[in-house]
Parts: sequence; structure tokens; C-alpha cells
Amino acid sequence: MSNSRVFLLGFMGAGKTTLARKLAQQLNVPCLDLDGIIEEKEGMSIARIFEQRGEDHFRKVEQALLHETTTNNEHFVMALGGGTPCFHNNMEFIKAMGKSIYLKYNAGILASRLMQSPNKRPLIKGMDKETLLRYVEETLKLREPVYLQSNFTVDGTKTKPNQLVQLTQQA
Ligand code: S3P
Repeated sequence: MSNSRVFLLGFMGAGKTTLARKLAQQLNVPCLDLDGIIEEKEGMSIARIFEQRGEDHFRKVEQALLHETTTNNEHFVMALGGGTPCFHNNMEFIKAMGKSIYLKYNAGILASRLMQSPNKRPLIKGMDKETLLRYVEETLKLREPVYLQSNFTVDGTKTKPNQLVQLTQQA
């Protein structure tokens, strides 16, 4: 099997982790969740890392573990954090190391999905509906040009894991 590193990108609330699990199962490779790897390494939740050590620290650890986990493993589907591709040189690294898929949703859908678990994520903690929608619109505008550098962009509302299997097998 050649080059079977697959990265799933997308905004918070896009369902990257769930889809990564299904895709990994179908490709018969391990599923890696970068946020989970960070939590394990730091011994605390992402929310706590932000609270106690700050976002800069989180971004440094995120970059280091993205590099370490990717270079140590050849076959995987990895769900990235929503911000991962947008900090340091991470998108360049992702593009150089494997195939990337952007799971795209519009801001309205993302905001309503995020409203269902607003306190899990430090960047949107405590926001009311309107503030959250504005935050998602503004942040997505900044981040999407980076996400769109992925090898593939798929519509999150329509995409099934088996369609992604076909994509990852394209040259
Ligand atoms: C973040 C997204 C989160 C997590 C952290 C920061 C972001 O991951 O990495 O809270 O900057 O968008 P999910 O996209 O899995 O929620």
C-alpha cells in the first residue's frame, strides 16, 4: 500500500472525527484524532490546555504532535483540529505528507451544529447564537482559503464515507 496518509480538514463541528473513524474502518487503517493525541500527551482536556497554558502553547504542541505522529506512521486517517492547518507551516506539511480532504459546510450549518455542544470548545465557549454565527462566518472566511488547498473538497451535507474511499484511491 503506498501513501495512505489521509488528513481530514474542516471547521469545528464539521464531524471530522466521526467521518475519520468510518473512513479508516473502510480503508482498514488506524484512525488518529489529533485533538485526542494532544489531550493524552498533555494529560488534560483541550479546554483545560487553553485555560491553563494558553492558545500559543496549544498551537506549539499541536504542530509538534502533527509532525511526530505523521512521521511515525505511514498508514492512517487523521482527523485534524479545525485550526490545525491554519497555524505555523502546518498546511504545507500536510500537503507534503499525504492526501487531504476538506469537509466543507456553510457557516449557518456549522453554527447550528456547534450550538448543540457550545461549552466543549474553548474558542466558542459561552457564545450566544448570534455571536456564534458571526464568529463562524468571520473565522471561516479567514480559514477557508487554507482548507481549500486540500487535494479534495467535499460537501459535508452529501458525502458518504465510501465516496471518500474512492477519492483517497485516486492518484
Ligand atoms: C480548534 C478546533 C478544535 C480544537 C481546539 C481549537 C480551532 O478541534 O483543536 O479547540 O481552532 O478551530 P475541532 O475542530 O475538532 O473541534
